[in-house]
Amino acid sequence: MTREIIIAPSILAADFARLGEEIAAIDVAGADWIHCDVMDGHFVPNISFGADVIKAIRPVTAKIFDVHLMIAPVDPYLEAFAKAGADVITVHAEAGPHLDRSLQAIRALGKKAGVSLCPATPESAIEYLLDRLDLVLVMTVNPGFGGQSFIDSQLEKISRIRNMIGDRPIRLEVDGGVTRENAAAVAAAGADTLVAGSAVFRGGNSATYAANIAAIRVAAEAARVAKPQHSSAQPMRTGEAVRLR
Ligand code: DX5
Ligand code: ZN
Repeated sequence: MTREIIIAPSILAADFARLGEEIAAIDVAGADWIHCDVMDGHFVPNISFGADVIKAIRPVTAKIFDVHLMIAPVDPYLEAFAKAGADVITVHAEAGPHLDRSLQAIRALGKKAGVSLCPATPESAIEYLLDRLDLVLVMTVNPGFGGQSFIDSQLEKISRIRNMIGDRPIRLEVDGGVTRENAAAVAAAGADTLVAGSAVFRGGNSATYAANIAAIRVAAEAARVAKPQHSSAQPMRTGEAVRLR
């Protein structure tokens, strides 16, 4: 048995003037999770949206909200994102000095905890945190903007993290420049959760979104390395039956 591939469209690439409709469209189109990129203009050189926007769009879909916080400091805002309806809260290893504390705080709020690593950050940053993690997010662009090119050097990091994770029920997510063309390489390296912004929201309607999501999923599933599950622990899955809150 292998872990199912999860496709998480990033709403950063949606038409913000019609954000609710866009989320409804990717829901119908087969998105597994909804990836929400929160940017503060300080940790990253761009500003996107915050907890109030996430709260406003929460009723649009029952899918898991995968909230990627590119903000520093992060600890003072964790509760607001939890209350807004985040299911998974991912913080950056580079965003503060007390990553272990941030992860404890996320779980104490009843949410799944993730750590994201920028391209220059080695996988050793999570070596002593694995038991506090539900998800590791490998950035394959420098965070801050959609539509950038995938950084190939990160494939080796993805493989190394896959080995570090072993049988733990931790999702390995990849974010930045993911397309139907490179999805196979990403999955072959060991990723099981693929974020895609531009590559999903191309075309502007639910039918094209469905084709885009399906193309990424088919490529990833075909390339995935089949590994037996030795553990009874199961990672987060898709769908309402496993709603996290
Ligand atoms: C970058 C964000 C990504 C990005 C993905 O800082 O974390 O989620 O929006 O967009 P694409 O797929 O266009 O690179
Ligand atoms: Zn992201």
